[in-house]
Amino acid sequence: MKVTNSLIQEAWELHERAIVFYGDRPVGTVAACDPTVEALNYDQCFVRDFVPSALVFLIQGKTNIVRNFLVETLALQGRDKQMDNFNASRGLMPASFKVNTTPSGEHYLTADFGEHAIGRVTPVDSCLWWIILLRAYVRATGDLALAHQPDFQQGLVWILQLCLAERFDMYPTLLVPDGACMIDRRMGVDGYPLEIQSLFYAALQAAQELLLPGYQRDIYIQLLSDRLKILSYHIRQYYWLDLKRLNTIYRYRGEEFGETAVNKFNIYPESIPYWVMEWMPEQGGYLAGNLGPARMDFRFFALGNLMAILGSLVSESEAQAIMDLIEQRWQDLIGHMPMKICYPALVDLEWKLITGCDPKNVPWSYHNGGNWPVLMWLLVAAAQKTGRPDIGQRALEIARRRLREDEWPEYYDGSYGRFVGKASRKYQTWTIAGFLLAEALMQDPSHLHLISFAGNAETLSWLPRATRQETVHQNLA
Ligand code: GLC
Repeated sequence: MKVTNSLIQEAWELHERAIVFYGDRPVGTVAACDPTVEALNYDQCFVRDFVPSALVFLIQGKTNIVRNFLVETLALQGRDKQMDNFNASRGLMPASFKVNTTPSGEHYLTADFGEHAIGRVTPVDSCLWWIILLRAYVRATGDLALAHQPDFQQGLVWILQLCLAERFDMYPTLLVPDGACMIDRRMGVDGYPLEIQSLFYAALQAAQELLLPGYQRDIYIQLLSDRLKILSYHIRQYYWLDLKRLNTIYRYRGEEFGETAVNKFNIYPESIPYWVMEWMPEQGGYLAGNLGPARMDFRFFALGNLMAILGSLVSESEAQAIMDLIEQRWQDLIGHMPMKICYPALVDLEWKLITGCDPKNVPWSYHNGGNWPVLMWLLVAAAQKTGRPDIGQRALEIARRRLREDEWPEYYDGSYGRFVGKASRKYQTWTIAGFLLAEALMQDPSHLHLISFAGNAETLSWLPRATRQETVHQNLA
């Protein structure tokens, strides 16, 4: 107990040290404070990295930093500007921002929408996390007035316009370019990756709670409700994998035409990788990593699956099945550090073709099957939500044994996560925040309400009726 307390104390202190100030106001946290390697962009505040930090601050009652973050990132939101010949569409939220100082000592912010990022990847997840975080802030503080400010309503609508825009494709899932989320490199996560769909589903529910009814918002409320329904149908129907479903796919006929087609996406049974046929437990299941024409990515992706539980994108029994899978494939998915970002790793020719020979993403390293301690908070949250706290507890005990000694690494390598990642940063902020958040959620599951959603059946009942019927700001464009 004493050891745990001193460990948590150290994590609190390190977390405080990561705070970034804009003028004299705290606005975020840097990605890592590793003095031994070149900072590159790890001295910036990443939107996705700040999420666990923000939740920790909200739990601590330090709500100002989260408010400031939301206000400043909103001010940076994309406005159809060309930057370095890359165009950030209106509504896009940056991947990261940096506080710079003029020669006269004044602070100013610069944002990176991916036009500077390695591989020039578009951070689609940022705007989804931003809405989810705004809802968490409102839930923690009751400050719905912030979300109802005209600039916040405008920001929300721009994000929704971007996500709900009519496009060439017909699926209810969000079509995104490669590297649009936590895995921000070529890893076969282009198209309809699960992580984006889980975040999208949660963000749409959050938007339902945050939009002011009336004016053009009523149209959005209707659109959101329709999209949520078909999105959850699509994901539950077509992404779900368990032994029974694998068996069905195994016996699929190809080339089916018309309305009665069973194999709607024309998945060829020959494309089922051998590992999944062996690996799928009798009891348990998960959502596939990606789905498109003749393409089913059978890999298990942790963030997408855990977020699907928190957002109630999966049914209750499916949520239990995902936890069963984690329990039954413990060594593979948790091993020596919770938890594996995706399983299994891409190897050989597949690694060459899919990653473009990425030396950082060699098998069982970094995004390609590395173990990322930040994922622990999502695991503990999902464990609490499904009434399986023992799973969270077991994982947390593993992390407690190593994180301090290993100096809070960004990720671990090896099929069971036994090695500190080859190019891993030390003192990675979301590792520290993820650990603190996991501890807090373990101790008090009531914090779950910040990040958990009831699914499309959720009513707006948690909001006081009077607030919901507030008059609409007329000056919204
Ligand atoms: C890496 C990760 C990305 C993270 C960033 C900062 O690029 O892939 O998800 O946001 O580092 O920690």
